[in-house]
Amino acid sequence: MNGVVLIGFMGCGKSSIGRYMAKNGYNLVDTDSYIEEKTGRTIKSIFDTEGEEYFRRLETDVLLELLGRSTDKLVVAAGGGLPMYARNRALIHKLGTVVYLRANADTLAKRLRGDTVRPLLQNGDVKERIKELMSKRASTYEGTADIIIDTDRCSYEKVFSMIKERIN
Ligand code: S3P
Repeated sequence: MNGVVLIGFMGCGKSSIGRYMAKNGYNLVDTDSYIEEKTGRTIKSIFDTEGEEYFRRLETDVLLELLGRSTDKLVVAAGGGLPMYARNRALIHKLGTVVYLRANADTLAKRLRGDTVRPLLQNGDVKERIKELMSKRASTYEGTADIIIDTDRCSYEKVFSMIKERIN
């Protein structure tokens, strides 16, 4: 498919860039919001009750559903942990160009401090937690991406224009 899949750490701007792209002609599916709408539950409640693995299966189901639909000009804002699973990596590549929105730990910590909705950030110091998860995830994000964009000092407009330049 000819879609764009935005991947990266929590707080890197996937949902915001996705919304910006939606204002510019793309059809946005944000996997977190989609799962919340479909189940009528919050991600936090799903994690608390059924656990992370169950949530990860719901993420895979969303990707399979999207592949079945073949939407034109699709942009997917993928939950931060979604690309950590090989089955999901194979599926996002089928959906289109995979774009890693990279941001450093300082930027992410500023954005995520005080977060109450992300289950994986509720225990301990946010910046330490980010660094810990990042050390496990960074190489997977980099290895999975077709395009890497450093977003720390970039406007949404700039990021979108870089994505367009690279996919055209
Ligand atoms: C997660 C990221 C979250 C959400 C869930 C788990 C992760 O999405 O899917 O809290 O494992 O990194 P965002 O990246 O949109 O915050």
